This record gives sequence, C-alpha cells and structure tokens, in this order.
Amino acid sequence: MGDPPPVTAAEWSEPPQAGLRRLPGLVLGAVRLAVSAAPREFALVTALQAAGGLGLVLPVLGGRRLLDRALGGAGLTAVLAQGAVVLALTALVAVAVAVASSRDEVLSERLNRYAMGRVLDVACAVDLEEFERPAFHNRLERASMSARIRPHQVVQGLGSLTGALMATAGVALALAAIEPLLVPATVAAGAPLWLAGLKSGQVLYGALFRLTPAERERSYLQDVLTSRRAAAEVRAFGLAPHLRSRWEARTRERLGEIRRTVRRRLRITLLARAVSGVALAAVLGPLLARAATGAMPAADAGAAATAVLLLASRLRAAAAGTDQLFEAAPFVRDLGSFLRPPERAPAEPAPPPFQVLTVENLGFRYPAASRPALDGVDLTVKAGQVVALVGENGSGKTTLAKLLSHLYRPGSGRILYDGADVASAAPEELRASVAVLFQDFERYLLPASDNIALGRPERAGDRGAVERAARAAGADPFLRGLPDGYETLLGPEFAGGTDLSGGQWQRVALARAFFRDAPFVILDEPTATLDARAEHDLFERLRDLLAGRTVLLISHRFSTVRTADHIYVLAGGRIAEHGTHASLMAAGGRYAELFALQAEGYLDPAAIPGR
Ligand SMILES: Nc1ncnc2c1ncn2[C@@H]1O[C@H](COP(=O)(O)OP(=O)(O)O)[C@@H](O)[C@H]1O
Ligand SMILES: [Mg+2]
Repeated sequence: MGDPPPVTAAEWSEPPQAGLRRLPGLVLGAVRLAVSAAPREFALVTALQAAGGLGLVLPVLGGRRLLDRALGGAGLTAVLAQGAVVLALTALVAVAVAVASSRDEVLSERLNRYAMGRVLDVACAVDLEEFERPAFHNRLERASMSARIRPHQVVQGLGSLTGALMATAGVALALAAIEPLLVPATVAAGAPLWLAGLKSGQVLYGALFRLTPAERERSYLQDVLTSRRAAAEVRAFGLAPHLRSRWEARTRERLGEIRRTVRRRLRITLLARAVSGVALAAVLGPLLARAATGAMPAADAGAAATAVLLLASRLRAAAAGTDQLFEAAPFVRDLGSFLRPPERAPAEPAPPPFQVLTVENLGFRYPAASRPALDGVDLTVKAGQVVALVGENGSGKTTLAKLLSHLYRPGSGRILYDGADVASAAPEELRASVAVLFQDFERYLLPASDNIALGRPERAGDRGAVERAARAAGADPFLRGLPDGYETLLGPEFAGGTDLSGGQWQRVALARAFFRDAPFVILDEPTATLDARAEHDLFERLRDLLAGRTVLLISHRFSTVRTADHIYVLAGGRIAEHGTHASLMAAGGRYAELFALQAEGYLDPAAIPGR
C-alpha cells in the first residue's frame, strides 16, 4: 500500500512504531486497497454516502422554501406538490443511507477477505525459519487482527470525514460572509481535537503493540482448552484450573493495559476539549464584548456567534472522521509493511535431481538456540542408495532432514548437487524432487484419499496412484474398512468423520510421501509409532518399494538401519562415524556400543554377537 519503501529483513521482523508522516500515503493506500478489493461496493457506498450527505441539506432547504411559499400565499396545489417533492427527496435519502450501510457490510467483508488473503499469501511464502521467531508471530498476529477491521475503518473514516467537510465548507462560507477572520479563528479552535485524535490513535496502537505477545499466549491457551487434540491430556492431568488461571492472568494484564489506555485517551480527549472550548470562548468573547459596547449591531453579533458555534460543531463532526483515520493509520501502516516482506535475490532454476548429493561442513543454528544444532557435517549420498542417519534424541537428525529438503538454508557450509552448490537455486523447485515424511507429520482433517493425494496436489485426481501408495504403505486394508472407504473424513470433529490410531496415521503419512513420487525420499523416524512386526515388514520391503529412488532413512533405533548401504552416526550435531553396519560394528565405536545397548532390550545378551 502506498509507495513501497525499501525494508530490511530486520525492519520487517520488528517494525518501528508507526509515525504519521505517511498519513496521506496511507489514506491513498487504503483507498487503493478498497478499489482492488471491492471496486463496485466501494464506488456505490461512497456515492450513496455523498448522496446521503447532500440529501441532509436538500430537505432543509426545500422545507424552508416550502414554508416561505406557504406564508407568501402560494396556492394549495403548488404547496402540496412541493411538499410531495420534499417528502420524496427525504425518502430517497433515507433509502440511500439504508442501502449504503447494508452495502457497507459487504464492503467490509470483501476488504477483510482481500487483506486477510494477502496476509495468508505472505505467511505461506516466508521462509520456514521465520516461524521460529517470536517477532514474526507477533507481526502475523497484528497483521491478521488489522486485516479484519482497519482497512474498512480507514474507508469509513474517509467517508464520514468527506461528508463532514462538505457541511463544514457550507457553514464556513456563510460565516465568511459575516466576518471572514472568524473562520480561521474557529478552525484554529478546533485544531486541538484533531491533534488529540492523532495522539490517541498512537496511544491505542502502542498499547495493542505491547499486548501482542500476551494476546498470543492467551489465544494459545484458549486453543489448548478448546481443542480436541489437548482435551484428553487436559482432563487426564486435571490441567483445566491451572491453564485457566494462566489465561485469567493474561486477561487481567490485558484488561489493565486497556484500562490504562482508555484513561490516557480520555485525558487526551478531555484536555483537547478543554483547550478547544477555551479557544472558542476566546473567539466568541470579543464578539459579545463588541455587541455589548455597541461596536457591532447585536443582530450581526448574534448571527456571527451562531455561525461560529455551528462551524465548531461541524468541525467536531469532522474530527470524529479523522479520529477513525488516525486510529486506523498506524495499524494499516504496520499491515502494509507486513505485506511487503523483504525481497529475495532472484533465484536460479533448480538443477535436475542429483546423481551425487554432497554435504560440506554444514552448520545450522535455530534462531532461538544458543548452540548450533548441526556443526561441520559432511556426508555423501549417491542416487539409488539407501543411506541411514542414526543418532540419539536431539543429535540433529530432523534438522539435517529439513536442510536436505531445502526448508532451512544452511547457516554455514554447502549442499551440492553433482558438485554444484544449490544455495542460489529456487527452494520450491528443489523441494519438488524431494518427498519427506516428517517425524511430526500433519494429520489433515480431510478425506483419507486427500490425506494421501496432498503429497502431490497437482495429481490429486489420480485415484489409482492414491491406492497404490496406500497399499505400499500398508494403509489400504484399514482405509477400505472405513465407513466411506477412502472418502471417509479423518476428523471426528466434523459430521461423518472418524479417527485413526497413531500407527495408522503414520501409514497414511507414509502413503502421502510415496504418492509424491519424488526421486529423493527422506523418511524421518517413519516407524516410530508402528508395532515391531510392522516396523520389520516395512524395512524389509523398503528397498523394493522405493527401488530406483534415493532414500535417506532416519532412525534413533539402530537395529532398523543395518541393511542400509551406508550409515551415518550423528552425535551432538556432528557426524561421529560412518560406514556400513559391518564396518561400524567391527570398529567397535559409538554405533557398535549403542547397537548392543539397544539390542539388549530385545535380545538375550548371549545372542548378541561379540558378547
Ligand atoms: N525449533 C528449534 N529451536 C531451537 N532449538 C531446536 C529447535 N528444534 C530443535 N532444536 C534443538 O536442536 C537440536 C537437534 O534437534 P533435532 O534435529 O530435532 O534432533 P533429532 O531429530 O536428532 O532428535 C536439539 O538440541 C534440539 O533441542
Ligand atoms: Mg528428530
């Protein structure tokens, strides 16, 4: 909105408090937004508002003429006919006002849709890393709230300001005919009201800005207390009172801040009114004095005083319009800058799927973390191989999976496809040839078939492929058994929906990865929720299922990866050792130790080789 000023990444994450020097640009921006969001509603509402404003004057003038005529002895029919015209005009105005306010609701809805749609576009386009930053979430929250009401508030403020200014101009002209100097004097007396609106808007923005983190925590707690996902734990652990009291605490904070803000705004308003009142008295005082001393005819002084008071009241009405504008302006500015994330350097086309993937000295630290999650990782994956990544919890496996699926950019080091660094290639294109099953995969409250087809939305209609993927993942038998088969909605919160077990969900997620049909498949703990037999079966079949593809298999269970072509052992974000199962066992290092340790849980120690 407005002219896009260049933003740096830091500014975008946490913008400065909005100054109001850009007010004209903002108004223009909001109008532009309204024109692109709902051109017809905007034109109609504006025209009707203007008609309504004009119509307010017409019946008054018409009524006066009518009265003059009637008193002047005009004929009954003429008076009646004129009366009918005045009545019809008044009725028209009433209809215009009613239509305008009903269309205004549609305008508000369309503005919201447009602005919120753009917020969603930005939220979906930013780097995954932004979601690790509180500042981004604060901005997103404010942008979503602002998108809901603020652009409409600007349009409304503009409408009522225009109407009030038209009326103000009329009265000002009348006053200028009596005593020209009184016009600027009265306008000056109204100035404090406008300044107060400006200050008051900034105070409100400042308060809501400060409240954003607490407000986000409040929404989070509301979500935990009302979502199906958490409902069982909340009950099992008796968490409701505890979480409720946290919610109450945030709510009290909010109430406190709102109270302070309301008081501050009231003080500002009262002070402005007082100053404005005194200034108005200073304008009227001399008038009265001149009338009293006979320096001015009493009738003239009376007319002038009436006009001054009328003008002052019109200016107050105009201030109500600017109050809306000033209130919305900082929010619209904040929203506008959120909608213009810093531009990335233009990306190059992605190279074709690799024959050899090389990772060199790869390092990555999460924005919120003090220690790197990956540090100096080197590894090589050849096309068609099954490469395993094992390590204990927190060793960095998932982080490496996310870097290799081009979701995070390397903090240091390089990812090479056939020797060429992919840092400047378009990540979306690189991602197109990767299928990843996340450890914390998403459970979409959608039909089962969609849950699989979302692996490659552009091929969603290929029912045969959906079923093949489900069979490969071992999901076909239980999906067929559902009330509506593959069309069963996987969400009991919705009518006709049902739920799956954790392991069944994992198979559906695996089917989604298979359906993606990508040359590079990353499976992050794909059997974590499967039973022992299912896990064994899956690993036995994996090589056949994914024949011809490159597979990165991640597991914390060392026994599951022994058949991999190559095994990397990750510890504390570094590659501790690598090799085949046999070479690693023979080396007697960390892998051998942890393998034996884990095997002990399952096997008779005597059966473990080397014991
Ligand atoms: N979003 C995050 N922000 C900060 N630290 C994180 C985040 N995600 C993971 N970590 C930390 O990074 C390290 C590696 O995590 P991860 O890659 O998930 O381990 P693994 O998958 O091997 O269990 C851990 O120390 C973890 O605490
Ligand atoms: Mg993990």
